[in-house]
Amino acid sequence: MKSIGHRIIRLEEAGSTNTVALETEAYLEEHGLVLVAERQTAGRGRLGRRWASLPGKQLEFSVVLHPVLPPEEVPLLSLVVAVAVAEAIEEKTGLQPALKWPNDVMIEGRKACGILLEGRPGGARGARVVVGIGINCGGAPEDFPEELRDILTTLSHAGGRGVARESLLEAVLTRLQARYRALGEGGRPALLQDWTRRALLEGCSVRFNTPDGEVEGAPLGLTAEGYLLVQGRDGDRYVQISGEMVWTLP
Ligand code: BTN
Repeated sequence: MKSIGHRIIRLEEAGSTNTVALETEAYLEEHGLVLVAERQTAGRGRLGRRWASLPGKQLEFSVVLHPVLPPEEVPLLSLVVAVAVAEAIEEKTGLQPALKWPNDVMIEGRKACGILLEGRPGGARGARVVVGIGINCGGAPEDFPEELRDILTTLSHAGGRGVARESLLEAVLTRLQARYRALGEGGRPALLQDWTRRALLEGCSVRFNTPDGEVEGAPLGLTAEGYLLVQGRDGDRYVQISGEMVWTLP
């Protein structure tokens, strides 16, 4: 199997690199292919949200994966990517990113990187997953739309050592390859441990809907599957599989 980043296609402009990868059969069929865009005009975020782009200041790319994992481990890819990105940012900038479940990469309580995994279920050829990564490298929160200014940060604003986007991309791909391979070789316990080491949990609260109504609680950590375990205020414990929840930091 080819390595992640063995081929990198550079686009001056794309609507969304995830959409390009998902809609171009030849790209989707190449495990490890990376698509980088200098600017996105219709970047997409999780839960149907928009991803705001600052042309020339962000690192925005998608990676095609053909996971050879038991189906129950595919959701762990979210954690693999988050840990790999956090490690690469730390290596290149000296900042120490934290993680907010499932895969927001945070610095000083603000989001510095968003990750969007999208896929096609495994047919005869197996599952295809497109991992979209957007890292706010340069610029400042003030450069973003007003409603985002209080909740995001950039690596340079957070005081990180300056790093060329190209060099950060290389570091992310190297870490991703290593983490991805480790998971395939039985590395789930180490992955969960490394994710948890960076996790924002203490003092946080979460709110989400269940068929029986809204629940508020405190995130406790990960289950063995990589799902979020929540202690509800009502005394019950909940396992959250999707990230559809309101998260309040301390
Ligand atoms: C989120 O935090 O909601 C996820 C944001 C993911 C953004 C990246 S940028 C590259 C790729 N292309 C997209 O349209 N989205 C992802």
